[in-house]
Amino acid sequence: MNSSDIPASPEVGAWFIGARGSLATTAIVGLHAVAAGLVEPIGLTTETPALRDSAFPGLADIVVGGHDITTTPLVDRARSLAEGGMFPASLVDRVSERVAATDRNLRQVPTGLTTQQEEIDQLTADIVDFRERHGLRDVVVIDVSSTEPLPPYHPGFDDDTALTVALSTPGVRILPPSSRAAAAAVAAGAAYAAFTPSASLNLPALRERADRAGIAYAGQDGKTGETLLRTVLAPMFTARGLSVRSWAGTNLLGGGDGATLSDPEAVRSKLVSKNRGLYSLVGDDVVAPLHIDNVPDLGDVKTAWDHVSAVGFLGSRVTLQTTWSAYDSALAAPLVIDLVRALALATRAGHRGVVADLACFFKDPWGSDVHAFAEQTARFVGWARRSSDAVVAASVAAS
Ligand SMILES: NC(=O)c1ccc[n+]([C@@H]2O[C@H](COP(=O)([O-])OP(=O)(O)OC[C@H]3O[C@@H](n4cnc5c(N)ncnc54)[C@H](O)[C@@H]3O)[C@@H](O)[C@H]2O)c1
Repeated sequence: MNSSDIPASPEVGAWFIGARGSLATTAIVGLHAVAAGLVEPIGLTTETPALRDSAFPGLADIVVGGHDITTTPLVDRARSLAEGGMFPASLVDRVSERVAATDRNLRQVPTGLTTQQEEIDQLTADIVDFRERHGLRDVVVIDVSSTEPLPPYHPGFDDDTALTVALSTPGVRILPPSSRAAAAAVAAGAAYAAFTPSASLNLPALRERADRAGIAYAGQDGKTGETLLRTVLAPMFTARGLSVRSWAGTNLLGGGDGATLSDPEAVRSKLVSKNRGLYSLVGDDVVAPLHIDNVPDLGDVKTAWDHVSAVGFLGSRVTLQTTWSAYDSALAAPLVIDLVRALALATRAGHRGVVADLACFFKDPWGSDVHAFAEQTARFVGWARRSSDAVVAASVAAS
């Protein structure tokens, strides 16, 4: 498709839940730096040659807002990430006014309300106000907040009537924060993506609400490092007929995510989502011990060691050891920007419900059991092309 065929896209809103965290701040600094032409769009899937001409919104057309529970100024957060080596301090200087302007779009999560429905209503009103103030056609909400423990089961997770009653009953606390935020995105009619393993929109009653509202959504838990590598390598073993017996992994990380995941309850959902693709690719009987250690000294640099043991021809042993080391948020931030663009395209192309072809972005993809990265990427490229064609066709029909 020739990029001149694509109708101009009005501004799109990106609403980050956890907007003052390491990942969101890196995405905000990066978006401003790339949009201003200060750095190349390295690491953005949507800027690769196969996808560059698709009908994604322009990077300069994305306006960012969001919620957080803290009030640390974004520029201060960006400076402390720069001190840790995430990106050059000089880059923060060059985008600081733009980042400060984004800060004015951030809102604090309300506290002290009598019912959870009141909180959802306030969160919804903040998103709607953002859309109206900026004259945005579409808003994409992305959850990049701290990973939570999974909530204890409540019948309202499966049944909308029970959910409605519980949400409106004073003092009843049924939904965890990520699910309240997801409910607000649905109520605001915004597209939604879960970049964390938290419960979020992954409760049947909330998914039904999302389907009824006709929003496009995708999840869950960004696939950025060790799991990405695993879903590239595991299909190789399978394709060569090598039998993988064990795949052990150790992750060392610091930063906010490292501190959060040092809680044994919070880390549980992460461990499940990290291993799901592996079991699907090499079989459920693989021995796959996996742990995540908080090492504050490492700051935002994450190191993952994997040890793979397989059996080959005549029972011979094959061993593979990998070391992956990277600034975690710098891996994830471009994917968050990609997801904003992809879900904006989905909305514009009239896609409703789960967008399974975004599986390449997630450890535990919703609506898809495809985990092999090459196949996921091919599906995403095909989907983006078809969606772009639909946008062009609709625009031609309207003119
Ligand atoms: N490579 C990656 O960085 C990567 C990959 C996959 C998933 N993730 C997930 O992304 C999330 C963010 O990672 P991070 O490194 O930015 O963590 P972080 O601790 O730096 O940031 C999390 C932010 O969420 C905010 N927050 C907490 N509760 C909130 C609530 N109820 N509403 C709104 N905001 C809230 C915190 O105040 C903080 O600013 C984590 O859940 C992490 O597991 C990250």
